[in-house]
Amino acid sequence: MPKYYMPTVLLSGNNCIKRHPRHILHGKKCMIITGAKSAVLSGALDDVKAVLNDNNIEFELYSGVSGNTNISEIYNIAQTAKAHNIDYLIGIGGGSVLDAAKAVSVYVTNDIEPMQIFEEKYENTPLKVVCVPTTAGTGSDTTQYVMLTIDEPHNKHSFSSEMCFPYATYLDTRYTMTMPVDVTRNTAVDALCHAIESYLNVQASAFSDTVSLEAIRLIGKSAVALLSGKFSEEDRENLLVAASSGGMAVAHTGLNLVHLMGHKVTCSKNIPHGRANGALLVEFIAFVARTNIMRAVKVIDAFGYELSGFKKLIDRVAPIDVEITEEDIDEWVELAITDKELENCPCTVTKDDLRTIYYNAFINKERNYKEW
Ligand SMILES: [Fe+2]
Repeated sequence: MPKYYMPTVLLSGNNCIKRHPRHILHGKKCMIITGAKSAVLSGALDDVKAVLNDNNIEFELYSGVSGNTNISEIYNIAQTAKAHNIDYLIGIGGGSVLDAAKAVSVYVTNDIEPMQIFEEKYENTPLKVVCVPTTAGTGSDTTQYVMLTIDEPHNKHSFSSEMCFPYATYLDTRYTMTMPVDVTRNTAVDALCHAIESYLNVQASAFSDTVSLEAIRLIGKSAVALLSGKFSEEDRENLLVAASSGGMAVAHTGLNLVHLMGHKVTCSKNIPHGRANGALLVEFIAFVARTNIMRAVKVIDAFGYELSGFKKLIDRVAPIDVEITEEDIDEWVELAITDKELENCPCTVTKDDLRTIYYNAFINKERNYKEW
């Protein structure tokens, strides 16, 4: 039976923290976790501090989480949070920051070693997490998923628990206005992948389709801005809503071929997450179209482009300038074929299929997409 579970309270609009502070006020003391710059540059940190001060809530501030922040560092943040008797957490930043806040919330209430977090068995409910995104892509603010960096090859590992949905998310477009163009593009393509992987998914339902198609449509509306690198407030709002909607969609269905295959590329070649996924996206759609043409067409229609035009746009917005060899592809295929997310693909997937998708995406770049 199709079900839809998304317990996060979503608040949106300019000044939503000041206008609706109730959901960011939970106890006597919180820890704010941020990245290096965006929380300050965007004004989000000042807005959060003002509301906390007005309501006599103390806070500890941890700044400097990045995409490379290691799990041991996140574990240490949790020990600091425990020592200060933190009641809840506020993450202000991009996906790495929000994921760090979600992981800290688990470590604070559960007496586990760092790597045990991937076992997804927690005795105690994590602390509440409030998310304030300053990018528009990962959807971490509306999902139960957490991606962490560990000290091993293929060093990004994820876990998932319904306990890890954020308690509340504040979506204020103003906080994404200072996002650099390349980050805006990478994160927008990531969000687009979430939405499309959710729509072309055996777990998709009428409920997830509603949000995934709307996310695709909103990103399509901002296609010209993504190409030019000039974003109006409306574009920023479209992308922010699309990113959280994409998160809601994959929270319901799980991810799919693009992410599981792109993950290998990112870990191996250090290519940004959105770009690695974007390079695989059109091949994924074409692959699914062989057995699910109507849903594949609906994706492209929702975006508002023909497939070949869609491919050109993605190549320009999220280009890959790293050399990739057939040996790289052979290695990634062996890793990808064991991934459990393969089960979400609406077609049977073989090693040869994976090899062809990688090959067409990264080596046979002149492939003609007009035929379907
Ligand atoms: Fe992603």
